[in-house]
Amino acid sequence: MSKTTRINKLAYIMSLILLGGCVAEDANVTVVSDGTEVVTADLEFLGERLFNDTNLSSPTGQSCASCHNETTGFDDPNNSQPTSLGADGISVGTRNSPTASYAAHTPEPSTVTRAGPGGAPVQVLIGGLFLDGRAATLEEQAKGPFLNPAEMANASEADVIESIRASDYAEDFELLFGEGILDEVDRSYDYVADSIAAFERTALFSPFTAKFDQVAENTAIFTEAEARGQDLFNGKAQCNRCHVSNAETVVFSEFEYHNIGVPSNMLLAAFIADPGFIDNGLGDVTGDVRDNGRFRTPNLRNIAITAPYMHNGIFTSLTDVIQFYNTRDTTFPQPPEVMQNLDQGGDIGELNLTVNEVADVVAFLETLTDVP
Ligand code: HEC
Ligand code: HEC
Repeated sequence: MSKTTRINKLAYIMSLILLGGCVAEDANVTVVSDGTEVVTADLEFLGERLFNDTNLSSPTGQSCASCHNETTGFDDPNNSQPTSLGADGISVGTRNSPTASYAAHTPEPSTVTRAGPGGAPVQVLIGGLFLDGRAATLEEQAKGPFLNPAEMANASEADVIESIRASDYAEDFELLFGEGILDEVDRSYDYVADSIAAFERTALFSPFTAKFDQVAENTAIFTEAEARGQDLFNGKAQCNRCHVSNAETVVFSEFEYHNIGVPSNMLLAAFIADPGFIDNGLGDVTGDVRDNGRFRTPNLRNIAITAPYMHNGIFTSLTDVIQFYNTRDTTFPQPPEVMQNLDQGGDIGELNLTVNEVADVVAFLETLTDVP
């Protein structure tokens, strides 16, 4: 073995030990992206300050919490339009804000083998953040909104760090990451992302206090309508084919990508500006036309308080959502936004649910709201 390979190997083993340490070692310490160890509670506290700081937008006034508010299941409390307003009060993005709650449960992107049509094994992508999976981790995700012109609209990372320097937690930042660190924009920006991600991994974002959880713990019981709704969700309505909840995932998603045939939202600003506007979702990220129209199955936690629904916010109620799944291929009035790659599995699009059964599924979904 040459000297360099030995050193490389040593570095590799060291990194394994470090990575392992992140889980196994002292639970009060977190290893951040560059390998630095910091006190977890301090990191989370800083993340909370950053997440809620309305001085980190341009113009000031918008924070992460503006579109991911604790009181509305960590999504945008303003439901007056399908997508959120940017910090400038005029710009809007093309996508509906999803809940940031339970986002910590979405795995990093990977390819897994599943049984495809006829049982033949197929490779499928799972995981990744944003509805099209373009960010691998919460850290990577957190770096986007500050610079997105339709969101917090800072001109540069340096601008974000300058605002932090002027904040009343600048000292905490330097105490945690080193004196003078705010002079180093790149490293500081990474630490901003590390802090926010740590905050998003706290129990505040994933409390598991919904009635559904209480029923699982035998401290509550479902009403008859809720129980019927659960049976339908896992049975006739076939929701659990994609919104999976089992020992491995408890957030009602298998994290795969599907085109379920959501129609264009004519109220979307992007559609009004250009009626030919199409959001290809995963297809725009991979550049593969076979991915056009696919979006990651969202988690359904807190779903009753996070309207509107779907990537383009086209549905304003859960009843509308379920009626869509019920009648997409029969009486539903609008065609899918993307006609290719349409999911045809099971009876999706023609479920034959009665009006009462639709109401029962809604009742079940309402049990997924966390109780403060
Ligand atoms: C103007 C509203 C707005 C602001 C401000 C905003 N977000 Fe978002 N957030 C969105 C939208 C819209 C999406 C979905 C975008 C997409 O899929 O392309 C999103 C997606 C996310 C996701 C991914 C959720 C998932 O299931 O994939 C997380 C996590 C998140 N935001 C956290 C943050 C953090 C942290 C900040 C502050 C640094 C922030 N957001 C600021 C609107 C906003
Ligand atoms: C083939 C997989 C699949 C099946 C089956 C399925 N869903 Fe979905 N669901 C998705 C995907 C993918 C999305 C996101 C689509 C988008 O944003 O365009 C979604 C979105 C949703 C949303 C909106 C989430 C949000 O935050 O905007 C709700 C609510 C929902 N589904 C409930 C259900 C219910 C109830 C059923 C059963 C009647 C069901 N789903 C069946 C894959 C599926």
